[in-house]
Amino acid sequence: MKALVLIGGFGTRLRPVTYSVPKQLIPIAGKPMLYHVLDLLPPTVEEAVLATGYKADAIARYVTEHPPHLPVRTIVEAEPLGTGGAMRNAGAGMSDPFLLMNSDVIAGFDLASLLAQHAAHAGLGTMTLVEVDDPTPYGVAELDPDDRIRRFVEKPTREEAPSRWINAGLGVWRREALDRIPDRTPLSWEREVVPTLLADGVFAYRATGFWEDAGTPERLLRAQRYLFDAGRGGRRAVPKGTTGQGPVAIDPSAMVEGATFGGSVTVAPHAVVGAGAYLEDAIVMDGATIAPGASVLHSIVGPHARVRAGHRVSHQVLGEAAEA
Ligand code: GTP
Repeated sequence: MKALVLIGGFGTRLRPVTYSVPKQLIPIAGKPMLYHVLDLLPPTVEEAVLATGYKADAIARYVTEHPPHLPVRTIVEAEPLGTGGAMRNAGAGMSDPFLLMNSDVIAGFDLASLLAQHAAHAGLGTMTLVEVDDPTPYGVAELDPDDRIRRFVEKPTREEAPSRWINAGLGVWRREALDRIPDRTPLSWEREVVPTLLADGVFAYRATGFWEDAGTPERLLRAQRYLFDAGRGGRRAVPKGTTGQGPVAIDPSAMVEGATFGGSVTVAPHAVVGAGAYLEDAIVMDGATIAPGASVLHSIVGPHARVRAGHRVSHQVLGEAAEA
């Protein structure tokens, strides 16, 4: 079996850091988001095909230099094709069935159960749905009693929402679903293609467990907390010469002597955190500097960005080489 991973979006909700880094390469709990997504794949998956577009070179370079646990192949779109067009573009040679994944989903559930449920139905596809308190930012499913999906309502008001079960961005599809997407045409899989497939039988896999669309700073940091709690983060204890509780994932090439870690922190390679600096719920990216006595709370500090001595950064995203 193969997995088709959509990884070509602009990541606008994580700007300005995504002006220079594709969101899937932002390190969370010690490794890029993409690698946590690939960790979800069951062992029956032999290859992940990455449908890339925005910052495709950076992604191709990173996976070559840091090979994931399974073979990956990158396919590049010359221009953004939307999720539907990207699937068609990258879909040659897909297995039947294939797994389809958004690359910004951090989840704690078992995709082997999704595959088993798909095999038990005679449907064209099975989509993972999760139940959320507020479905209004998502695609919300209306379900038949046998969990067949009758329709999706995109970003409904609370009154319009037919349920609280939303598309989790993880599914399994028969290969023929790809043939139903027009070639070389930009379009959205969720909004423009899936509605045309429902009549062929698309079923819901109701997943329980942690799920987050890690596409905004707040949700990304929540996903990081979950990954540490679930034991899926890197090193957890604070290193020698620092204080605080952790959990933390600090690259060995980073310099952090004398800093205090309040918890759930990633420090990427070659970053420098000065003595007396305080970090909590934070991501400090490659080569960034947190000067002595500065504090960074609930924030993402982009590559080579700098937080001045004694300065406090809270609930912010700093782009590459930014100064605060
Ligand atoms: P925002 O701009 O912040 O909404 O993020 P995004 O660009 O990633 O969009 P969204 O979160 O809706 O995308 C869902 C998934 O589809 C993500 O994994 C994206 O990387 C991917 N994706 C979105 N648009 C494209 C596209 O045009 N081509 C490809 N290959 N993937 C896409």
